[in-house]
Amino acid sequence: MARVATPKLISCPIRLARTRHGADLRSNLDILPPNPANSPAMPTLLVLHGPNLNLLGERETQHYGRDSLEAIDQRLRERGRRAGIEVETFQSNAEAALLERIHAAKSDGTAFIIINPAAFTHTSVALRDALAAVRIPFIEVHLSNIHAREPFRRQSYFSDLAAGVISGLGPIVYELALEGALARLDAARKA
Ligand code: DQA
Repeated sequence: MARVATPKLISCPIRLARTRHGADLRSNLDILPPNPANSPAMPTLLVLHGPNLNLLGERETQHYGRDSLEAIDQRLRERGRRAGIEVETFQSNAEAALLERIHAAKSDGTAFIIINPAAFTHTSVALRDALAAVRIPFIEVHLSNIHAREPFRRQSYFSDLAAGVISGLGPIVYELALEGALARLDAARKA
């Protein structure tokens, strides 16, 4: 009688990182080898910047610092490269474009999101719902301390869904968030 080979079990860090819940992480641990077509060589971390952040460096520097968005993005890509993670960055002034980018992240290998929703922090139920729908873990960042400014900035539609929130240290918040995301991905990979 012909013998049927037992499929080799392996772990897949990208699938693991898609969920915020420990139980789901464990249930995804052992899976059949992934289809190479759906398995990017490097996990992708997506950095989303909301409206007006394209003006960083010239806009209200007392709140947001003097670094340009491109300088921030470049540092993140470089740190990601050293960690073996592809960092993709996306800025838009349009809520719809940010929504579409989050939806696309569901199936493009994005393992983690860092988001500065900017003014949409305080207004956008739609972006909140998109992040909840794709169930990709995310860290919310703000260059300024949103709790030390006008009262309307204290309300965030994102914080209670976020894996973490970093607010108020200037441009370094993105790099701190990236370190947090890398630690999360590493922990999921080893779980
Ligand atoms: C911001 C804070 C928001 O209140 C503001 O609308 C922004 C930037 C920050 O990074 O500090 O545009 O998200």
